[in-house]
Amino acid sequence: MPKGWLIVNSFIHSSKFDGIYSMLKASADSRGIDLRVVKSGSLPHSVNALRNAVKDVNFALFWDKDVILAKQLEAAGLRLFNSASAVEKCDNKALTATVLEAAGVPVPETYCSPLTFEGVGYNDTAFLDSAAERLGFPMVVKENFGSFGAQVYLAESREALESIVERLGSKGFVMQKFVESSRGRDLRVNVVGGKAVATAVRYSVSGDFRSNVTAGGRILPYCPDERQEAAAVAAAEALDLDFAGVDVLFGPSGEPLICEVNSNPHFKSTLEATGRDISRDIIAHVLKCLRRR
Ligand SMILES: Nc1ncnc2c1ncn2[C@@H]1O[C@H](COP(=O)(O)OP(=O)(O)O)[C@@H](O)[C@H]1O
Ligand SMILES: [Mg+2]
Repeated sequence: MPKGWLIVNSFIHSSKFDGIYSMLKASADSRGIDLRVVKSGSLPHSVNALRNAVKDVNFALFWDKDVILAKQLEAAGLRLFNSASAVEKCDNKALTATVLEAAGVPVPETYCSPLTFEGVGYNDTAFLDSAAERLGFPMVVKENFGSFGAQVYLAESREALESIVERLGSKGFVMQKFVESSRGRDLRVNVVGGKAVATAVRYSVSGDFRSNVTAGGRILPYCPDERQEAAAVAAAEALDLDFAGVDVLFGPSGEPLICEVNSNPHFKSTLEATGRDISRDIIAHVLKCLRRR
């Protein structure tokens, strides 16, 4: 019987996460996998100490964003789904945009903030002028690290942009062209093992420019066209993801633009909308990869 770990963050407690963990565990059980939930804090964050701990474990579903732990586990010999480098590339929106652009995957025009330091901040904002000139207003500002739409802002003017950036202190962020044709609406394409397995359209009902379900958006099943599917699959491939929740915007001529990519997708709302339990696809993909080893 294959033995796996479902590695979760020790400090975040929410029913939203618990629901995902139960689905993954149930799907693993049904395929004869012994999947145990392991809290990140219960593991030694040391390659040498982990070597022994992972000896009898065949794989781990890495549902945390602790990239250091992920890299340590891999160095100790454990196969992670998703890999440490894939989680790292998705977690940071500036890095995601950089990898996607480099791979030729369509994204809205995006500029990353230059690096500053804690206690120093952005004391020279000239770089905002060139971004504003290229992107115009309104523009989207996203903190490099964030989820559920909570760290994504719409700057309507140069003054608004300046005050958002001031509030961010020294945090890194991206500035992105606002895709007006996709206002309050986008697709969540779930990709597993290089295939789009379930897609839903999400839309805001409050007039918010963000469509996140957590921010009050609604979700319905959706049949993606070839281009939308191909763009989502290309994004997952460029980021080396075994599985992904890919957010796809509707470009001005209906063309797909990749908004962002999630390495630990919250697939409960997709299940509610489409009836497809992505955890089953993930477990099937893991088994396929383990058999290939
Ligand atoms: N460039 C953009 N143009 C139009 N809408 C956007 C753009 N970027 C993000 N959004 C909207 O904001 C939402 C949240 O942004 P996203 O990058 O997915 O961050 P999060 O990780 O918080 O979900 C998206 O689902 C989309 O509805
Ligand atoms: Mg998103």
